[in-house]
Order: sequence, then C-alpha cells, then structure tokens
Amino acid sequence: MSNPLNLSENTLSKIDEVVPKYPEKRSAALMVIHLVQDELGAVNDFACEWIANRLDLQPINIKELVTFYPMLREKPWGRKHVRVCRTLPCALRGSYATCKSFEKKLGVKEGHVREDGEYSLEFMECLADCGQGPVVIVDEKTYENVDGDRAEKFADLLLDGKLDESDEFQSYEDALLKKTEE
Ligand code: FES
Repeated sequence: MSNPLNLSENTLSKIDEVVPKYPEKRSAALMVIHLVQDELGAVNDFACEWIANRLDLQPINIKELVTFYPMLREKPWGRKHVRVCRTLPCALRGSYATCKSFEKKLGVKEGHVREDGEYSLEFMECLADCGQGPVVIVDEKTYENVDGDRAEKFADLLLDGKLDESDEFQSYEDALLKKTEE
C-alpha cells in the first residue's frame, strides 16, 4: 500500500500487525487511529481517508470516531502541551486557579493551541496522581502540587525554558530517576 502520510516503517508495521488480530478489519479502527495519531500528532481528513482505505471503510466511519473521542484530535497540539487536572481532588486543591493562571501567562485558552503553535493547554479529567494535586503534565513530565499560588512561577520557568533545571518544580519522573541513580 502506498504511504502518502509518510508514516514510519515502525508505525506501518505495527498497523500491519494489529489489523489481522481482529475478526473484522473495522474493529481495528481505533487501534489504527491511535497509531497514526501517535506519529502525526493528529488525524486530519487526509489521514481519515488513508485509514478508511486501509480498513475497507468510508472516511466518514473514521472521522466519526476521531470527532467523538476526546483523546483523538483533528489538529495537533502545540510544541509544548500542558495538561491540568480538573477532577475533584485536584479541583479542591485549586486546579481551576492553576488553569486560569496558565491561560493568562501562556496566552492560550484551555482546549486551544496558541497562535504561534508553541503552547497548548488542556484542562482535563484525572491525571492519575490524585493525592498530590493540583497535577500538571507538560509533555510527558508530571508536576505535583502546582496550586494557583505557584502556577505563575511555574509558567514563567516554562516560558523561559528553565523548568527542567528548577529544583522547586522537579517532575515526578526526574525525581524518580535521581533516586535510582543515588
Ligand atoms: S484528581 Fe487530579 S490527578 Fe486524579
């Protein structure tokens, strides 16, 4: 099959592997969409068409899935993607103020990508670290206790590209790595 989406060999072979595992090709649709989104950052109309072709479906069958599930996207997020937990334990500890502060500092409304494509902000359900809220994830790194009072400083460090060096806001993942190295 031709490769107009320029997907990597790795993604193409994962798709080739996953499709025959389902009794009907159409049942693999969500898996294939995820694989495409993982590589391209989003599933636009062109990608819907390619996936539909691959699974002997109509593009609308794919598009309806992409537009239905909140974790699927037609347009990619920004180069830095910031997620803030909105679920009750984090909300009670101030995540609404955190999100508001990020909107102001980063210059982007939640659910959107900043015009220059640099930042996007998502205010979303549980990020699976409920005891240490408000929880913020920047790309793949998790930060705990980022309440409204600390959010401004957090955003400043992020904007200056200094978040990774900061002792005050060490990510859960970096702290774990440090521990295993000690
Ligand atoms: S409630 Fe915020 S991480 Fe679970």
